[in-house]
Amino acid sequence: MPSTKSECIKVVARCRPLSTTEINEQRKSIVSIVPPTSVKVNEDKAFVLDQVFGPDSTQENVFDTVAKPIVDAVLNGYNGTIFAYGQTGSGKTFTMDGSVDLPGIMPRTFEYIASQVATQSVGCQYVLYLSFLEIYNEEIIDLLVKGQNKVSKLEIKESKERGIYVNGLGQHVVTGMQDMMKKLQLGKKNRKVGETKMNSESSRSHSILTLTIVCVEGAVENAAAAAAAIVDRQRVGGPGAGGAVKKAAGGRVSVGKLNLVDLAGSERTKKTGAEGDRLKEGIAINKSLSALGNVMSILSEGKTSTVVPYRDSKLTRLLQDSLGGNSKTVMLANIGPADWNSEEILGTLKFAQRARNIKNDPKVNDDPGDAMIQQYKQEAGKLHAEYKAKIAKMEEDHALEVLKLQEELKELQLAKSAKTEEVSQVQKLQQQLQALQEEQTRRQTQEAEVAALKAQLLQLQTKAEEQQAAEAVTEVTAVAPGAVVSSDAEPVSAKEATVVEKPKKGNKYVAEINKLKDKISNMKMEAVSDYEYMMLQSDELARLRVKMLAESGQRRDADVALLDMQAEMAGLQGLTKLQEKELKRLQVLTENLQARSVRPSSARVQLGIIIQGDEHHESSTHSSPDKTAGSGRSLRDDPGCNMLFERLVLDMGYDAEASRQAIMAMPGGLMDEIIDYIEEKEAIMESWKSFKASVAVA
Ligand SMILES: Nc1ncnc2c1ncn2[C@@H]1O[C@H](COP(=O)(O)OP(=O)(O)O)[C@@H](O)[C@H]1O
Ligand SMILES: [Mg+2]
Repeated sequence: MPSTKSECIKVVARCRPLSTTEINEQRKSIVSIVPPTSVKVNEDKAFVLDQVFGPDSTQENVFDTVAKPIVDAVLNGYNGTIFAYGQTGSGKTFTMDGSVDLPGIMPRTFEYIASQVATQSVGCQYVLYLSFLEIYNEEIIDLLVKGQNKVSKLEIKESKERGIYVNGLGQHVVTGMQDMMKKLQLGKKNRKVGETKMNSESSRSHSILTLTIVCVEGAVENAAAAAAAIVDRQRVGGPGAGGAVKKAAGGRVSVGKLNLVDLAGSERTKKTGAEGDRLKEGIAINKSLSALGNVMSILSEGKTSTVVPYRDSKLTRLLQDSLGGNSKTVMLANIGPADWNSEEILGTLKFAQRARNIKNDPKVNDDPGDAMIQQYKQEAGKLHAEYKAKIAKMEEDHALEVLKLQEELKELQLAKSAKTEEVSQVQKLQQQLQALQEEQTRRQTQEAEVAALKAQLLQLQTKAEEQQAAEAVTEVTAVAPGAVVSSDAEPVSAKEATVVEKPKKGNKYVAEINKLKDKISNMKMEAVSDYEYMMLQSDELARLRVKMLAESGQRRDADVALLDMQAEMAGLQGLTKLQEKELKRLQVLTENLQARSVRPSSARVQLGIIIQGDEHHESSTHSSPDKTAGSGRSLRDDPGCNMLFERLVLDMGYDAEASRQAIMAMPGGLMDEIIDYIEEKEAIMESWKSFKASVAVA
């Protein structure tokens, strides 16, 4: 049911803002836009068009008002043309293509068609074809062929099936927005751009991007069936899908064509200062443009008798349907507002106003008898079947891919948990290392304490020796005469009291010295056990490391961390060896101290003096048996005397007789004191031996 209704070409004007250069050159705007339909130039010449857009119009607004109705019509099977006319630099390309940030009619059309095709698929299947050509020097070039130099110039042909067409022009099936954008980009890259005085990037050629939209109604199930048949045949080698494809193409088919045209600049050549190639281009462009002017002029007069000279140029021939034919057409008249362009502005607007009179007879292209429709019908059915088969295959592949990915995901998750385990191991090791470092610090503090204590010990021992030496001298002067001169109990016991008190001071030092020694020994033992602990820790670290290495060949991070740790450990062990050395040094020092304390101390000096004194005074003092017996001592009865005697003779090597006599002559208090000293010294020796034994174990 072809629905034909005559309608005029719609003409809109769009005036761009003054450019920065124009503002800098103090150009004045001579255009005033009077919405919705009027535009005035120099405040006197007014033009009335279908719609006017001022300098602040948006790309979105222009698309919605100008392009969308045409695109909708094309989706419904009409032919549509949107073409931009105007001098170079007036905003044709900006309006048709735009920029990434400010997309123009073409990208917005792609987006809109893609969305409509996606949502309107109920009861209708669309197939989209895209072609992109350039008319340059009256030659047609396919813009979608990579490597332009290989491409020969294309010819315009006409046939019953296809109408007017460019022979050999690529018709690319596109399936979505991205697909269409890619083609646009490729075409733009291939487009020839000349340089003129007017605009360094002005296009010297006309470009036509054509979208053919084939809609197969009621083909959804059939197409799906055809697809299924093809898939089945591929799988089991069954009968062909040809029948199904024919069935798929059985519904109503409509074919809409949309031409998006960006014309070359409409300025007069002399203004551009073109020469040579540029002049040739200019003439050629003018040929197409002047043919366009002639065609439009004749069409606008509406004289049906006159032959319209479409064949005068490639441009008019290709736009034949759009101008006075089966098409809904919009002409965009682009103007720049600067005063120096007044001639071009007026030219463009005059051209635009005239175009408004051109009548078209758009109809829906869905006549089943139409050869073109037949052809598209066949092709669309086939494409659909292929498409569906592809989709089915893709879905199958997709399912397999999903399975594969799920497997991979599982593996990754396992690997991840292993990695997590590894990380926690490393963290554990780091904590252990930190503990070891803290331990080390603690031990260093301890060492310092030991050193301090050692110094204190030295001091005390020196003091003790000094004091005891001093006491021994006092003792000899105080006690010896008393013991010899008098046997009277009274003065002796008085002297004894002093003697008893004095050496006790010496003992106090000894006690303190012992305390200190104990403390040092404890600390050292602690240090030894710390060392053992550290050795255990280091074993544990080594074990963990081996485990981790075994677990994974590529745990580099952990290995590096471990190497660091090993280095740290080595450092720690080194320090421990230092400590060990220090300990040994301390031992030697303490032994030296011990040896010093074993040297004739004040008590031994006392004894020596007593014994020598006895020997010295033997003839006079011990000649009398009464006097010897006077002390009432018997070596045999008194265990203290016995012990002292043994020590003097056996341990210290004094003469037995002299020792015996000295003991016999010794005042009771002094002897007790000496025995105390000896016992205490033995106790010190014992504890020192056990300490040495414990250190030796470590
Ligand atoms: N409506 C507009 N708003 C802002 N800038 C515009 C507008 N129209 C055109 N321009 C700018 O003016 C310059 C020339 O436009 P262009 O589209 O290349 O002209 P043409 O294709 O007609 O030679 C470009 O820099 C473009 O971005
Ligand atoms: Mg341009």
